[in-house]
Formats: sequence, C-alpha cells, structure tokens
Amino acid sequence: MPLVAVTDSVFPNLDPAHNVLAQVGAELRLAAGPTAEVILDVARDADAVLTTYAKMPPELIAQLRRCRIIARFGIGVDNVDIPAATSHGIIVTRVPDYCLDEVSDHAMALLLSLVRKIPSSNTRTHGGRWEMKAVTPIHRLRGTVLGLVAFGQIPQLVAPKAKAFGIRVVAYDPYVSDDVLARAGVDRVDFDELLKISDYISIHTPLIPATHHLFGADVFPRMKPTAYLINTARGPIIDETALAHALDEKQLAGAALDVMEQEPPAGSPLFGRENVILTPHTSFYSEESLIDLQTKAAEEVLRVLTGKPVRNPVNPEVAQSATP
Ligand SMILES: NC(=O)c1ccc[n+]([C@@H]2O[C@H](COP(=O)([O-])OP(=O)(O)OC[C@H]3O[C@@H](n4cnc5c(N)ncnc54)[C@H](O)[C@@H]3O)[C@@H](O)[C@H]2O)c1
Repeated sequence: MPLVAVTDSVFPNLDPAHNVLAQVGAELRLAAGPTAEVILDVARDADAVLTTYAKMPPELIAQLRRCRIIARFGIGVDNVDIPAATSHGIIVTRVPDYCLDEVSDHAMALLLSLVRKIPSSNTRTHGGRWEMKAVTPIHRLRGTVLGLVAFGQIPQLVAPKAKAFGIRVVAYDPYVSDDVLARAGVDRVDFDELLKISDYISIHTPLIPATHHLFGADVFPRMKPTAYLINTARGPIIDETALAHALDEKQLAGAALDVMEQEPPAGSPLFGRENVILTPHTSFYSEESLIDLQTKAAEEVLRVLTGKPVRNPVNPEVAQSATP
C-alpha cells in the first residue's frame, strides 16, 4: 500500500485527497507538526509528499528515502528546495489553476467597491449617517478604461467581467501574444500608456525582480489623479510607503489591496484610510476552490503512483525522465 505523507494542512479535512488516492489504496499520514523531525516521522518512508507551507530544505529532502513526488497544495513552491528535490530525482508539482474564478471575481469586487464606495458608505450608514453627499463624486463605469498589468490566466477572466459593465479593457504584457489579446478583445498598450489612460489599474504580474516595486514613487504621478489601483497579485509589487505618500499627494484616488508587502502586516501607513480597501489575502479562497486545490494536488501524486506523466511539474527534467 503506497504511503503519502502530508507535511501540513490548512484544510478542514483531507477527504478530497483521500478520495483521489483511495484509487490506489494509498494511506495518507498527516505530520503532527511543521518541524523537520516531526515531518520526517511520517515522510521518511513515504512514496509521496503533499505539502502546503512547511519548509522543505535540502537536509529534509535528503532524508526522504522513497519519495517520488512532492506535490504542493498551491501555486508557488517557494517552501520547497527545488534543486535539492531535482538532485534526488523527486518530481515537484504545483497547482497553477485552482482559483482563477475566485481571484478574477475578487479583483472585480474590489474595483466595484472602490468605484461605488461601498465599504465607507456601509460604515457611515451603520453609524446612522444616511447621506449621499459623503460619497460624492461617484462616476459611471460604462465608458471608463481598465488597465491590466499582465494578461495571464487571471486577468483573462477579469477582462470579460469588466466588459460586461461597459468598461474598455487594455493590457500591458510584453510576453503575451497578439492572438490572445485579439481573441479577448483587449488592446495592447505599453506601460506608460496604461498609466496615462486607465481609470482603474489591476495588477496581475508574478512577483519577480522585474516587478518588485513596479508601482513605486516614480509611477504614481503618471496615473490619473482620479484612478484606482487594485492588487490581487503579490504585495511587494507595490511600494506601500510610496503609495501612502501618493495618496496623501492625491496622485491617485484610492487603492484596494488583497496582498501586502508584509503578511500579516505589522502596522501600515495604508491603515485607516477611507479610500483604501484591504482584504487579508483571500482572493484565492472559496470552499469550492479549496476542494479543487486538494483534488488537483492529489491527482498529481496519483499520476506518479500509476506511472502517468504529471500535469504541472516545476522540474520537468525529472518528470520527463521518471515517465516510462
Ligand atoms: N491573491 C491571491 O489569492 C492570488 C491567488 C492566485 C494567484 N495570485 C497571483 O496572481 C498573479 C497572476 O496570476 P496568473 O495565474 O494570472 O499568472 P500567469 O502565470 O497565468 O500569468 C502571468 C503573466 O504575467 C506576465 N508577465 C510576466 N512578467 C511581466 C512583466 N514584467 N510585466 C508585465 N507582465 C508580465 C506573463 O507574460 C504572463 O502573461 C500572480 O502574481 C499570482 O501569484 C494571487
């Protein structure tokens, strides 16, 4: 009977993974804690490892005697030392596509909340202030421009949702093909043009050196002073100190962030502002997306245990040589 170790879990239960792995009669064992020694208690002789946030450094990976795959419950794999896994011939997989509806919905929810000023109106109304004057001005969505920074999987789902509100959608993504943009009815613009013409800017790039503090002090003065900035990608893409200063200087009208430079934030110059909406990195979450995530990660393990190629390897060179 194959043994599958689970280093750590954020799920209410592991039923979806159990259901997938029951097909090969695998036993799932959850580590009692996130430390290397405790993880090794269940993982040392496991055929596969499922992991969420637990650190998997080279010393731990070197002690996995039988492991053929480390499957991450998530999109990023920064908790796993990939070179170490590769050198031990262990396939590492991720799940890049479990929450695309949720994140694109969340980006739209933030956009609508900013434009319609829902959070501040709600707070005021609950406090007994039934006033229209306090929310003025609000502008019509139809005919405005949404600038998408990157046009990967998530913004490709944001675009049609925004268009349903009569918003024109433009995108800055140096790597996406003209075909993809044309099929989506989205106009390609360069970064400067995007800053200049967008009424709302929604960030969807990966966090890489080229995008770290992409939105910094030099960028905000090039935006419309009436524009809103939305970030559901990764916190450090925005320099938050510079953003707070730009808001003070009225270089933009407001911002909505699901991700922050430090999570959880230990205080922030963005706290307490009526024109800033903050959510605690929950864009990915729905009950359904968590089931998808668990199922898809466990399916990668099932593929390896049944000699089939995995779908989303991070080290494809190992995956290729492991497939008969
Ligand atoms: N908040 C959340 O809960 C949550 C959940 C899932 C994903 N995310 C984040 O959302 C972001 C987008 O995810 P996705 O699935 O759409 O990604 P994706 O991998 O499908 O697409 C990334 C896109 O970024 C483009 N890109 C790369 N470098 C760029 C640059 N310097 N400038 C402009 N474009 C660039 C690529 O060409 C590609 O089209 C990622 O940062 C991801 O980490 C957040």
